[in-house]
Amino acid sequence: MPMILVAQVSDTHFDLGARNVERVERVLAFIADLRRRPDAILLTGDVTDSGSPDQYAEARMALKADIPVYAIPGNHDDRAAFRATLLGEPASNAPINHAHRVGELTVALMDSSIPGEPSGRLSDETYDWLRGVLAAAPADAPVLLALHHPPAHLFSPVIDKISLAEPDRLAEVVAGDKRIVGVVTGHAHSAVATTFAGRPLLVAPSTASVLGGEWELELPDHVMDYAPDPALALHAIDDNHRMTTHFRSVPMGGWIGVLPF
Ligand SMILES: [Fe+2]
Repeated sequence: MPMILVAQVSDTHFDLGARNVERVERVLAFIADLRRRPDAILLTGDVTDSGSPDQYAEARMALKADIPVYAIPGNHDDRAAFRATLLGEPASNAPINHAHRVGELTVALMDSSIPGEPSGRLSDETYDWLRGVLAAAPADAPVLLALHHPPAHLFSPVIDKISLAEPDRLAEVVAGDKRIVGVVTGHAHSAVATTFAGRPLLVAPSTASVLGGEWELELPDHVMDYAPDPALALHAIDDNHRMTTHFRSVPMGGWIGVLPF
């Protein structure tokens, strides 16, 4: 069994429609039924579709779980409503950055959203905050970084135009700290595995829809595919601080049986 197991759910796009709620509930039920339950659930942005308070109220209801859920905004979110309604904190437009200790692991969740823009950037304030988190993290323990916008080219015609600006700035931090086991993001609505600054860069799929790569999309008409089942990522961090990721889609009715091998 892994030392630490972290589930990642992304781009839930709560929009007051029953469909997206059901798909998140289906994924959370899958997580709850696992023989080894994750230690935490990360929600890497685009919690809501358009950032309205009632969408955050819907998200807050649906995301009730007995495993801690740690969420950050994406480009479809609104920081003030996110804070006030989802987190129950005073509304403010400052970046929503927070860090958590999950067993030995430190998870640093960073707000890469730019209010009113689809692309992403980590502010000076966020970099200062991250340096503080890394300075306070235990010397020999693993660290996982999470943000919404991928800092690398993904061969995604839609997302590559609105990815993280100044990725070299983040790469310098990652390359300079051996404790960082990987970087996880959302935004691409596709399960993607690549590398960034010599570490794994894992992009969790969206629970709401799938966005194809440049070998699939016929822009501008065929963009989002709503047919595939909702999906998630499961990141296992072992005693050697190596991160192994499995992706799962969850069909209607859940995983109802396993045949003998
Ligand atoms: Fe999204």
